[in-house]
Amino acid sequence: MSDLDTKTFIDKYAITRKGTDSLKWDALKERFGSDELLPLWVADADFSTDQVVKDALVKRVDEGAYGYSIRSADYVASYQGWQDRHEGTQVKAEWLIFSTGVVQSLYDLIACFTNEADGIMIQTPVYYPFFNSIKDQKRRLVEAPLLNDDEDYTMDLVKMEELFKAKNIQLFILCSPHNPIGRVWTKDELQAVLRLCQTYNVRLLSDEIHSDLVVHNHTFVSALTVAKEVGFRDLIVCNSPSKTFNFAGLLHSHIWIPDEALRTQFQKWAKQHRQTEISVLGQVAAKTAYQSSDEWHQAFLQVIEENYLFIKSTLQEAFPEITISPLQGTYLAWLNIESVLAGESVKEFIQEKAKLAIDYGEWFSPAYKHYIRINLATTPDIIKQALKQFILAAKQ
Ligand SMILES: Cc1ncc(COP(=O)(O)O)c(C=O)c1O
Repeated sequence: MSDLDTKTFIDKYAITRKGTDSLKWDALKERFGSDELLPLWVADADFSTDQVVKDALVKRVDEGAYGYSIRSADYVASYQGWQDRHEGTQVKAEWLIFSTGVVQSLYDLIACFTNEADGIMIQTPVYYPFFNSIKDQKRRLVEAPLLNDDEDYTMDLVKMEELFKAKNIQLFILCSPHNPIGRVWTKDELQAVLRLCQTYNVRLLSDEIHSDLVVHNHTFVSALTVAKEVGFRDLIVCNSPSKTFNFAGLLHSHIWIPDEALRTQFQKWAKQHRQTEISVLGQVAAKTAYQSSDEWHQAFLQVIEENYLFIKSTLQEAFPEITISPLQGTYLAWLNIESVLAGESVKEFIQEKAKLAIDYGEWFSPAYKHYIRINLATTPDIIKQALKQFILAAKQ
C-alpha cells in the first residue's frame, strides 16, 4: 500500500483535459466523427504527473533558456536506481540511446536492422503501430497469434518455432507487458522465447514501455535480465517514462542496446538518418520522477487496479457473458462484448448507442473484431459514467 491513498491521489491529481489540445479529449470529432463521446481510448492518463515533477519542470522553465542539452551524468544513475528498485533490472550507462518515443524507435530500429522484404514477427492481437512500422517500411509481416484459452493468453511457442524455421525471420518484436491483452510475461516464458531466438538467429526487439505498469501480485521481468542469464546478445529494448508518469508529450524515451557491435551499427545508421537532440524538459521530468515519484506511481497503480476491478464486477453482474482478460499489466482492459450486440457492429454499439470512444479490437487484429480496449487511467467517476452509458446501450 502506498502512503498516498487513492482518494487523496484522485483529489490532488485528477485534471480536466478537455480544451488542452489533448489528443484523447480534443480530437474526438476528427478521430471518431463526433464530439459527444466519452473518451477511453488512446493510452495516456487523466491525472497530472507528480507534484515534484511539476515543480522541477517549473523551475527549469523559469530558467528561460532551452538550448541544446547534454545527457546529464545523474540522469542515468536515477534511472538505474528506479530499474533496480522496481524490477531488479541492471542496465549499464553505455547501453543507453535516447529517442523521442518508442514508436519512432521501432521505425528506426526496423530501418537500421532489416531490409525490404525481410520477415518480422509479431504476436497478435498487438498494439497497431507494430503492424504499421513493418508494413510502412515494406517489410514482410509474420503473425504468430497468441493462444487464447477463454481470455487466458499465452505465447504459441510451437507455432513460433515453425514460423522461425519456415519464414526466414530477421526480427521478432515482443510486447512486454503485452498491449492490449494485459499479460506480464513470466521469466519462464521469456526464457523460452529468447532460446528460440537464439536457436534460429532471430534478433529480438522488446517493447517494454508498460514495464512499470504492473498490478501488485505480478512481477515484471525485462528481456535484459533474461538475456544475461541465457547468454543472448542479439537484443534491443525500448522503454520510456512516458506511460508510467504521464508525460508522453515530452517526447523522451530510451533504447537499450547491450551489444557493442549492434550499438555501433545503430549509431552509424542514426548519424545518417536521425540527428535528434535530447528533450530538455523530458530529461528533467524523467530524472525527477525516477528519483522521487515512487509514491505517486504506487497510488496511480492502485487507481488503475480499482478501476479494473470495478469494471469487471459491474459488467459481470450485468452481463455475465462479457469476458474481460485478467489485468496483470498495462492500464488497458480488454473485453469481448459480442454477447451484448443486437445485430449491430461494435462501432455502432459503442459510438452510436453507448456514446463512447474506445480502441477497437480489430485495430489490434482482424480476428478480434468483437473486442474493445478501455483505458483505465482515469477517474472512477469517468469509469462509472462510461459503464452507465454502456449498460444503458446494452439494455436498449
Ligand atoms: C506497446 C506500446 N509501445 C509504444 C507506445 C507508444 O510509445 P511512444 O508514445 O513513446 O511512441 C505505446 C502506447 O500506447 C504502446 O502501448
